[in-house]
Amino acid sequence: MSAFKATAIAHPNIAFIKYWGNRDENLRIPANGSISMNLAGLFTRTSVTFSPELNTDALVLNGKPADPAALRRVSRFLDFIRGFAKTGWHAEVVSENNFPIGTGLASSAAAFAALSQAATAALGLTLTEQELSRIARLGSGSACRSIPEGFVEWQAGTCHEDSFAFSIAPATHWDLVDCIAVVSSGHKSTGSTEGHSLANTSPLQPARVADAPRRLEKVRRAILEREFATFAEVVEQDSTIMHAVMMTSTPPLFYWQPVSLEIMQKVSQWRAEGIPCCYTLDAGPNVHVISMSSSAPEVTSRLNSIPGVKQVLQATPGGPAQLVEG
Ligand code: DP6
Repeated sequence: MSAFKATAIAHPNIAFIKYWGNRDENLRIPANGSISMNLAGLFTRTSVTFSPELNTDALVLNGKPADPAALRRVSRFLDFIRGFAKTGWHAEVVSENNFPIGTGLASSAAAFAALSQAATAALGLTLTEQELSRIARLGSGSACRSIPEGFVEWQAGTCHEDSFAFSIAPATHWDLVDCIAVVSSGHKSTGSTEGHSLANTSPLQPARVADAPRRLEKVRRAILEREFATFAEVVEQDSTIMHAVMMTSTPPLFYWQPVSLEIMQKVSQWRAEGIPCCYTLDAGPNVHVISMSSSAPEVTSRLNSIPGVKQVLQATPGGPAQLVEG
């Protein structure tokens, strides 16, 4: 390994309390705090090599040169890191994820968490977890939550210094499983970055943000006490409040497909029957069904029997972003 190369892996995360809307778009200071769980088994692996011989940055994603928009986003992010490290060198970034191709699960969280870890290490910067989380946030808000391990809270803060994520419980704390019902392989119509900038056009966003401290407190406590009933109720409510904001933005964003709603209704029924499970959806139609590990096989087989569900992936609580041999 040359002195200016490093490789890191990071997991995506699923938010139980969502990040939607920024008070500072440039620095990605969010409108509200959020809570998530890293997803073990799914990961992005990224190698970064800085060199005085490169004239521009280069980005290879899953074995192919990335499109210009993705390269621009990465280059802009590397500019922040070059600023911290006081270097003008360009970099070659090679990134791969192990999510099955065509699941619509490509995650900017895992990508920018792994890139932050690898790029800063390649330049010899020694950073605390908190500093790394702040840097990852500049690339993609939710990436700051993929730096620490297990169950993670992102405190919204008001500026670059106080907006970062930290672990509230290790991965071993609670044996939850995210059973991800993949219903679409298509790309998102409107990506999250554009979506965040529409949040304030919804008359419901102020109410969502004002009530966020209550939902954060309930979910944090439910996680710490491993109390599934409250957890399930608030996680579902938080997902639906975010989608209500999305659907009432200008222009409106509808991420749910008919099968997404069908799954949500079935999950509610299953819970009423006594199976500990609840649903949450990000900016897409796939449904994350969070279950206790004892009921994950039953939940997975029920999800698989719903027409329109293409695949069900399972992920347990995951570890932190980490440097690996490259
Ligand atoms: C719906 O972190 O992907 O998944 O900062 O623009 O990269 P950018 O947005 P991103 O937004 C995530 C939105 C969400 C909710 C969440 O993960 O909290």
